Amino acid sequence: KNVVILISGRGSNMEAIVHACQRESWPGRIAAVISNRPEAAGLAFAAAQGIATAVVDHKAYAGREPFDAALREAIDAHAPDLVVLAGFMRILTPAFTAHYSGRLLNIHPSLLPAFPGLHTHERALEAGCQVAGATVHLVTAELDHGPIVAQAVVPVLPGDDAQRLAARVLALEHQMYPQAVRWFLQDELRIDGARVVHQQGAA
Ligand code: GRF
Repeated sequence: KNVVILISGRGSNMEAIVHACQRESWPGRIAAVISNRPEAAGLAFAAAQGIATAVVDHKAYAGREPFDAALREAIDAHAPDLVVLAGFMRILTPAFTAHYSGRLLNIHPSLLPAFPGLHTHERALEAGCQVAGATVHLVTAELDHGPIVAQAVVPVLPGDDAQRLAARVLALEHQMYPQAVRWFLQDELRIDGARVVHQQGAA
């Protein structure tokens, strides 16, 4: 199975997925890493691993629709079974999310449905949350919504600021995102209405 990963920057989640795919015997391969920013640091890592890379620069397009059409073309050139958003910082059009319905994953650094959108850690701290976490979900037209595939929790500790909390959550993301991608590739996820059930060993 072919996986295409979309990034916008650092790409540490993409790295974690690539490493897990190399280390474990996954029924799939990372076919390409595509960025909307030419300067995304993750592109160099992917290229060094021998993975095809591409840039679809959103600044070169007049709006979301032509950008998403070009992005879709770049992705579909790799015949993806799964498209993984890993720190991809563009809002996608409904036409785009519909095209990849059921095969588009995102990770968000909060316990959704709490704190969708930006500045999640600041908002969690302001709200006095005692736990934080991350959510892997199937992408639908609504930002940071869609059926939840996996969630995991970390404590908020005394003295935390957004940076410290983000680092604790990111370490968790690096564990859970590769696992969720693996479940998808192993065909272990069953969508039951709004709920996704993980059935270990299913096929
Ligand atoms: C992660 O925290 C992810 O959940 C959020 O943006 C960050 C991306 O980090 N959407 P990286 O590019 O994977 O290092």
